[in-house]
Amino acid sequence: MPDIASGASASASGRHPMVEISVRVNGRQVVRSVPNHYRLIDFVREELKLTGSKEGCGAGECGTCSMFLDGKLIKSCLTPVHKVQGCAVETIDDLDRDHGMTVVQQAFHKCGASQCGYCIPGMVMAATSTLRRNPHAGIDEIKEGLGGNICRCTGYQKILDAVELARDVINGATAPAALQEEPADNFMGHRTRRLDAPSKVTGAIKYAADMWMANMLHMQVLRSPHPHARILAIDTRRASALPGVECVLTSDDVPGVDNFGVFIEDQPVMARGVVRYVGEAVAAVVAETVDIARAALRLIEVQYETLPGLFDPEAAMQPGAVQLHPFAANNICKHTRIRKGDVDVAMREADLVVEEIYETAPIEHAYLEPEAGLAYVEPDGCVTVQSPSQNITHHRHMLAKILGRPINKVRMIMSTVGGGFGGKEDMIYQGMMALGAIKTRRPVRYVFTREESFAASAKRHPFKIRYTMGLKRDGRIVATKMVMVSDGGAYAMSTPGVMNKSAILGPGPYAIANVWVDAIGVYTNNTPSGAMRAFGAFQSEFATEAHLDLCAERLAMDPVALRMLNLMRDGALTHTMQPLDRVLATDCLQAAVAAAGWDAGVPHRRAHGLPARTDLDGPGTRAPCTLGAYLPSAAPSHQEEQQHEA
Ligand code: FES
Ligand code: FES
Repeated sequence: MPDIASGASASASGRHPMVEISVRVNGRQVVRSVPNHYRLIDFVREELKLTGSKEGCGAGECGTCSMFLDGKLIKSCLTPVHKVQGCAVETIDDLDRDHGMTVVQQAFHKCGASQCGYCIPGMVMAATSTLRRNPHAGIDEIKEGLGGNICRCTGYQKILDAVELARDVINGATAPAALQEEPADNFMGHRTRRLDAPSKVTGAIKYAADMWMANMLHMQVLRSPHPHARILAIDTRRASALPGVECVLTSDDVPGVDNFGVFIEDQPVMARGVVRYVGEAVAAVVAETVDIARAALRLIEVQYETLPGLFDPEAAMQPGAVQLHPFAANNICKHTRIRKGDVDVAMREADLVVEEIYETAPIEHAYLEPEAGLAYVEPDGCVTVQSPSQNITHHRHMLAKILGRPINKVRMIMSTVGGGFGGKEDMIYQGMMALGAIKTRRPVRYVFTREESFAASAKRHPFKIRYTMGLKRDGRIVATKMVMVSDGGAYAMSTPGVMNKSAILGPGPYAIANVWVDAIGVYTNNTPSGAMRAFGAFQSEFATEAHLDLCAERLAMDPVALRMLNLMRDGALTHTMQPLDRVLATDCLQAAVAAAGWDAGVPHRRAHGLPARTDLDGPGTRAPCTLGAYLPSAAPSHQEEQQHEA
């Protein structure tokens, strides 16, 4: 397994030769001695404390670290610091020192072109570069200019709108007044500007990795290379003896209850006696520098006895399978059931029964801000953790138990979240940071590498769904049966909540008298699954909607007509028997049909012998956004493919 905690070149002591760098940064000459492996982003952020530029990937892919080097846009994570000797560097921090915001930044603010904001400094730099080069750039050139920058939050349209507005103001086609907020005497019904947007478009807002305290130490974490193994011994003596190391933490250092979790308390702060997935934390080093902490990780000796792993949730439920947690029979973490009506009878009476299996994959959230945090002990003994937690109340309660402290001696502060999508809801590293701060009595900062974020953070639950639906010939659904098995991974995290929501919402907004749902979350030795947008509803409703298309095809019905027939109406009972006074589902579908320009017809692909859709990909259909990537124009459209098939 690659060393997921190490992004820099290895040095046995963690001390690298120093190099003196003289460079002009934002108009000021600076001279500093820094480790010779530093990249420009390290020099600017860690040495000069200019934190407007962000590190999203560290691999030249995302563009959050964009700066100007002698006037040319570069990715500072790919630029060795010794290459900037004698050059001029321009960062977002001082892009417009005199006026606060440049025209580009004002346009981003005006257009609402920032959500979490983590990508925005890079976007602003790329847009500035494009418009400096050509103040009359067309939309294709703008897309090309921003093609090396990724935003995980938006659909890019507002960003492109902002760059076009900035272009028009810069080249005089539009008056600068267009950058001002439109006056309104009421917020309702008007576009209002985000209060935090100025700090995001200028890079001034502080994310956890931007924070710095006097006397601060750095944490790095040793992670398991095995999916399932018993820990026979951990020897930290050589690591502890390395000059610059303040402490090495293992599960022996947890003073309170070393089992946490929002739904099920099954997770230790660091592996206790056994590792259950590749990437699980085994030990943590707190040291004067990140380099020393990384060097110390290599000196920790762990003896493992590998154990058989479980990677398939269906196999994990079989009798005789290895048991991963003593309390979870058949490795079942959560089984949510819904039983309404009599599904077996209704299926027998249906004119058509359609069965299919649907599978969804685990998905990484890939927020651009990797996990990070800062922990410290206040003078009154209150342990404080700042991190982009999406669930601070639960995290605070869990921390108090882990640390064995009263709740009023534990504080969680939610730092600005650079994208979360639910992925920062499950606690995975804050406990280690708090332990480090308590043990050293100094502030401790921990910033994940992108590789570490991928390896150690929870993913969206993958599902396997066996779907059976019974319908009458006219399209009325009489029964639905969904048996869903989901891989919860090594620890419960949000699995119980995700199972509940996937079951409750799975059969969709359709009035069905007979419903059977099983949602089973299973422990395996895979990376834990956790919260992600829609919290389980996405997977089960994907299956329902895909299945309805299949049923429409079998019935030779328009898929919209099938849905319209079955949608819940006023007074409907939900699948869990809640009465709904008012239901607007049909209005929603009608609005969607109108907006999409939907014409009645069956889905085009598999409509063998049936009237096929011809309007898809035709005139009036929005062209796919390529964001500067030029696709071969020879690629056949759906219509051309259909003609070819015919
Ligand atoms: S491109 Fe440099 S951090 Fe992603
Ligand atoms: S606003 Fe672009 S990544 Fe969040």
